Amino acid sequence: MIDFHSHILPRMDDGSQSIEESVALLRLLAEQGIKKVVATPHFYADDESVEAFLKRRKATYEKLKQAYSSDLPALVLGAEVRYYQGISRMEDLKALCIEGTNLLLLEMPTSRWTDYTLREFQELCCRGNLQIILAHVERYLGMQSRAVRDQLEQSDILMQVNADLFASVASRRKALKLLGEQRIHLIGSDCHGLTYRPPQIGKAIRYIRKKFGEEFLEAFAEFEENLLDHKA
Ligand SMILES: [Fe+2]
Repeated sequence: MIDFHSHILPRMDDGSQSIEESVALLRLLAEQGIKKVVATPHFYADDESVEAFLKRRKATYEKLKQAYSSDLPALVLGAEVRYYQGISRMEDLKALCIEGTNLLLLEMPTSRWTDYTLREFQELCCRGNLQIILAHVERYLGMQSRAVRDQLEQSDILMQVNADLFASVASRRKALKLLGEQRIHLIGSDCHGLTYRPPQIGKAIRYIRKKFGEEFLEAFAEFEENLLDHKA
């Protein structure tokens, strides 16, 4: 299995704050059954240029690599890009895709989207050179109108949910139902640290295995691998 959403790079954002913490998180993820981790630090266009972000990401990744051992999951670089007005016209957006792919992890507003936001989002989806993954959709999909939800579900946009959705008793049933109906496509730990938002993806895997069986999980893992192998 692949963890598609994590704040695992040390001191890159509000996630891991040291190399030691990153290594411990990676070890936890390995124990939970994760073979590959997509590092998706926050990218806020208001705070930083793409160039500066990529430079920082490269530096922190190289430091972490020096502490790497073979028992840890492989790391793939990406970003969690927050929506902002003007994003559809951003030229260097492609550089923020998961490395080697055209997959862009996009965090949309956690409120009912305005007509402007919807128009801009549609323009972004129409750019043609991007495959959008909506980050932790459980935070905002339910706030949208029925028409918008239907439109999103009928599109080729990928829906990522956080593993906590499966771990929590309150939301587990719904999460499993959505997964079974292929209305959600990817799972991420969205882990931030050992004490603040630690990874719970192992729990999610256990409940998915219990409900759908090993074959389902294998097919799910294969789908994830194929996505990353699909070169941009
Ligand atoms: Fe995140």
